[in-house]
Amino acid sequence: MSIFRTKNLDAMVAGSRTAGGLKKVLGPMDLIMMGIGAIVGTGIFVLTGTGAVTAGPALTVSFIIAAVACGFAALCYAEFASSVPVAGSIYTYSYVTLGEIVAWMIGWDLLLEYGLATSTVAVGWSGYFQSLLKGIGIVLPEALRAAPGAIPGVNTLFNLPAFLIMMVLTFMLSLGVRESARVNNIMVAIKTGVVILFICVGVFYVKPDNWTPFMPFGMGSVMSAAALVFFAFIGFDAVTSAAEEVKNPTRDLPIGIIGSLIVCTILYVLVSGIMTGIVPFPKFEGVDHPVSLALQYAGQDWVAGFVDLAAILGMSTVILVMAYGQTRILFAMSRDGLLPKKFSTVHPKYGTPYFATWMVGIIFGLIAAVVPLGVLAELVNIGTLAAFSLVSVAVIVLRKTRPDLPRAFRCPGVPIVPALAIIFCLVLMSFLSWHTWVAFAIWLVLGLVVYFGYARSRSLLNKPN
Ligand code: ALA
Repeated sequence: MSIFRTKNLDAMVAGSRTAGGLKKVLGPMDLIMMGIGAIVGTGIFVLTGTGAVTAGPALTVSFIIAAVACGFAALCYAEFASSVPVAGSIYTYSYVTLGEIVAWMIGWDLLLEYGLATSTVAVGWSGYFQSLLKGIGIVLPEALRAAPGAIPGVNTLFNLPAFLIMMVLTFMLSLGVRESARVNNIMVAIKTGVVILFICVGVFYVKPDNWTPFMPFGMGSVMSAAALVFFAFIGFDAVTSAAEEVKNPTRDLPIGIIGSLIVCTILYVLVSGIMTGIVPFPKFEGVDHPVSLALQYAGQDWVAGFVDLAAILGMSTVILVMAYGQTRILFAMSRDGLLPKKFSTVHPKYGTPYFATWMVGIIFGLIAAVVPLGVLAELVNIGTLAAFSLVSVAVIVLRKTRPDLPRAFRCPGVPIVPALAIIFCLVLMSFLSWHTWVAFAIWLVLGLVVYFGYARSRSLLNKPN
């Protein structure tokens, strides 16, 4: 009963190919769209305001630093996704390389990344949605606008829009991944189109004077902003959780992961550069719709309206893909016996893990409704950075333990590139607040308690083959 026992990789890959599992319907373009769907959201539409105030115009550099960290990690993810195309992403990768306890802890950690990200983004969605409603004269009763204590001096109780959007998207996910991918593709096309429109219109209103001083608060602040806007990149890894629903996973997963990251990095650097070029950065203080503010500042209110709409759609797709990733990780953990069996029961008609889907929707919907999530973006970041470091360690380990394994995509420069991924992630983590570290530590301890109290004795690895 070693806690470092590993799963048999070959049996697992073979098992995922047998009938009775998830439907294989996704192609490379679906995956790139899925990646962009998960990536472009609250990070660019909301957090860039705080990022600009923190780093000044050098926010573009913060985005590049965060992108480099993600790029190294993405190469590691791509290698794994192409050699272990099984649902569960990094959870599964660690199960075959680093052992059960690490896999469990990473699965537990991913609840912070995917699960809490859906709640965080649902709250951002609710803010934009309510401002859109206000535009047409509809104002929600005070109690239903936000979580208790979220708005100082206002008696809020329940964030109804955040809860409802979670329910609508959960319903879509429960119907099937093909259907969800179709809706996702349409929404991603619209949001990407609007971001490009912002770039094309905004560039004419840039005043280069606004870019000086470029780094008003020094490199430390640029790093702090990078640790925050890292949130904007989270999601490319969710593509890997689709592994068992992809027609040609060994080729298409690396395309999906790296392709979506490249597209988003280019968009982010352009958007943050243009934003801080139009508006003097101190004016972003306390602004939760920085991108549309830049256009209003330029007198382009009509484009600003489109940006608000794109933000709403953008955040919807982030929730959709993140919730999707979460359900597939629960699916994989349950299939291994570490979670109750119900989480891996597939609906006979829709071919989706419907119990896991509704549990994720309801639990994280309720969290979005009743917990003020201002600081939780950081918690999502620390969980994700830890996961990225782990996947990089796992790539190095698997190269040593299974050099023979067919790898359709090989991460270049192993072990240097994975080592750089680990260093970048740890450096970014060190710029997060100590509250975040404490909360993260508590979460991990709780994970250990559940592992030893429940999962370990129920693991399928206890059964002889
Ligand atoms: N990257 C996602 C967002 O920015 C989580 O909303």
